[in-house]
Parts: sequence; structure tokens; C-alpha cells
Amino acid sequence: MELQGDEVKTDIRDDAARFYDLNPGFPEDIPFYRSLLPSSDATVLELGCGTGRVTVALAPHCGFIHGMDLSPAMLELCRSKVAKIDLPTERVAISIGDISSFAFKRRFDLIIAPFRVLQNLETIAEVDGLLHCVRECLAPGGTCILNVFRPFCGPDELREGWLVPGERLNWEVPVEGGRVSCSDRRVRIDKEQMVIYPDLVYRRYQGLALAEEVVMHLAMRCYYPETFEQLVRDHGFEIVSRWGGYQGEQYGEGPELILQFRVGS
Ligand SMILES: C[S@@+](CC[C@H](N)C(=O)[O-])C[C@H]1O[C@@H](n2cnc3c(N)ncnc32)[C@H](O)[C@@H]1O
Repeated sequence: MELQGDEVKTDIRDDAARFYDLNPGFPEDIPFYRSLLPSSDATVLELGCGTGRVTVALAPHCGFIHGMDLSPAMLELCRSKVAKIDLPTERVAISIGDISSFAFKRRFDLIIAPFRVLQNLETIAEVDGLLHCVRECLAPGGTCILNVFRPFCGPDELREGWLVPGERLNWEVPVEGGRVSCSDRRVRIDKEQMVIYPDLVYRRYQGLALAEEVVMHLAMRCYYPETFEQLVRDHGFEIVSRWGGYQGEQYGEGPELILQFRVGS
């Protein structure tokens, strides 16, 4: 039996999960991850698999994929998508667990955490925990790919300029009978730890009337190109590739920071 993190936290996505897949602005990362599958029988661990956006896209192209997430609400949606692709349990598994503390008997050829999952780890102790567990779970020669967003400005400017009042509209999509919007509010910043605390506000309108509002409180730890690389190296890994986005951007120049690394020799 696979072992999982034993501590399950409160699900901050309980009410918000059902809006997640409506986002029209997901990064175009699926071809990227697919191209980095080392073989068609590779074993893959996906940390923070959420609703299975990437899991179900990769599952038919690898030997085995295990998706793990902390949120029961996200996993419920993930499980129903996985059931539809109809692969045997030897090919795809989903479990609840904390990515800062996990263990598996199996080793993985590739470990991924798409769409900035790492940034949800608020404390450095949690980040250390994740990198320690990754090390234990990688197969010989295996690699891990982690991704964060590249901050829009330097650290000093972020510290002083991130916290602005008001709400910004991220996206809005039509749904049956109305529309759903997602905005963010910038609530707090920990300037020392470089953790930002945005709220995501989902609103569903029935016709013109507001029918529902759900607020999700997020924490996102910020990384810069050098600090991200240093973090990975400090945990005894060697970096094999780096990218700045999914459209061929150079590391440090695009919207994302993406590192692929393996256990150092
Ligand atoms: C932005 S979503 C990304 C979901 C998916 N990887 C994707 O690309 O669509 C972040 C996911 O990370 C999960 N997550 C955050 N912290 C976690 C933790 N400590 N352990 C496991 N999952 C976590 C959340 O529940 C959420 O599903």
C-alpha cells in the first residue's frame, strides 16, 4: 500500500474547487510535460494534481501516474475525470496527501507539480520537506520539474508595491444562465518571507443578479530566478534544464520559472 502524508489540513478549496476548471487562462503546459515524459512506460508522480487537468492528459502516455493533492474537493473532480479515461489502476492512481510530507514504496522516473503548486507551500520548512521527499521518491536517473511564476518586478518593488487596494478581474466566462467571474484582492504580504496573500473571489451571476460569491484565501511564496535555482541546489540536486515559460522563453525572461533537476552526483 502506498504511504501518504499523515496530516490533512482544512480544505481551503472546499467551495471554490468547482470553479477551478472554468479558468480560460491555464498555461499551455500540457505539451511541455508530455514532451518531457522519459518514455511511454515511465512512472510519474504529480504533486498537487488538483482537478486532474494535467493528470488525465498525461495518463494515456505513460506507464503509471500517481496524482496527489491535499484538497478533497479538488480530488473529487479529479477522480471523476480519471474514471472517464478508463485506465486500469496499474496505470493511474489518485490519493490525498500533503506534498510537504509524503512517502511511497514505488520510485518515480518523473515528478512534476504543474501550475505553481510549489508556491502554495508557505513556510521554508514545508519547502524543505517537499524537496526531501522528492529526493527519496526519485528513481535512479529520474528528474523533478518544479515551476513558479516570475515576479513582475524586483524584490524591493514587490515588497513596497504589491499591496494595492481594490480588486482586479482575472477572468470571466459565460455559463448556463449567466456567467462566472474570478477576481483577486491583495490582502497582505510578509515582506521578510516574501509570501503574498491574495484572495481569489469567484462570483456566479444568474442573468444580471449575483447568485453566489466564494472567497478563497491563498498564500503564495515568491521566488526569483537565482533564489529558485539556489534553493534546488542547496538540497543536493543538480539542475539539468531551465525554462522561462512554455513558449520557448529564456529562464529569467518569461512569465514562469521552470527547473528540471536530478539528484546531484
Ligand atoms: C493551482 S492548483 C494546480 C492544480 C494542478 N496541478 C493544475 O495544474 O491544474 C494548486 C493545487 O495544489 C494543491 N496543494 C496546495 N498545497 C498542497 C499541499 N501542501 N499538499 C498537496 N496539495 C497541495 C491544491 O489543493 C491545488 O489543487
